[in-house]
Amino acid sequence: MKKILAIYGSPRRKGNTATLLDHAVQGALEAGAEVEKIYLQDLEMSPCLEIYGCKELGRCVIEDDFHDQFMACQGLMLASPIFFYTVSSHTKTLMDRCQSLWVKKYWIDKVPYGQWEPKRKGLFISAGATKGKKLFDGALLTVKYFFDVLDMELWRALLYRGLDFEGDVLKHPEHLQEAYEAGKELALALHG
Ligand SMILES: Cc1cc2nc3c(=O)[nH]c(=O)nc-3n(C[C@H](O)[C@H](O)[C@H](O)COP(=O)(O)O)c2cc1C
Repeated sequence: MKKILAIYGSPRRKGNTATLLDHAVQGALEAGAEVEKIYLQDLEMSPCLEIYGCKELGRCVIEDDFHDQFMACQGLMLASPIFFYTVSSHTKTLMDRCQSLWVKKYWIDKVPYGQWEPKRKGLFISAGATKGKKLFDGALLTVKYFFDVLDMELWRALLYRGLDFEGDVLKHPEHLQEAYEAGKELALALHG
């Protein structure tokens, strides 16, 4: 069975991105995937301390809830709100901790930059309060390079403007349906 990791990057457990991700998870489960849910808010996770213990060991040396196998999956569904035009701090902390994977890939295993085949697929779900054209530009760039470290293609991004208060997304059943379908399609794409 293909494993999908569902990462909840908002501090709000029932916020807009969490609700969207719940629907994507439901779709993936119905398509037969195994889904592991991770609420970043629940984890003890230090920011990257830039001590580069990973240069010696090929893994992060900080001892907390983040570990080497944390990102093991065939598919990833990452949900984060837009905070100051990028992902939330919880999400960014996880990304920065994956610098150990970057070090392993490019410094230890010496994979030439840009010369790797995507082995995994990632879905990014985001929401922001405003409606500007560039609202998701910063987050998309960050997510793209985070996925690069994971040998993952940005398979699809579901980006919703004009959602601010908890529950706002419930007024948009079409968004919830789209998230459900994306979860289902991601699971099927992994099977295919
Ligand atoms: C610290 C913080 C920063 C935010 N920055 C932005 C922003 O730059 N642009 C924007 O449109 N909305 C911004 N918002 C609003 C959130 O993106 C919006 O409320 C979103 O729907 C929250 O998603 P969630 O319910 O999944 O947490 C910010 C909210 C907070 C708390």
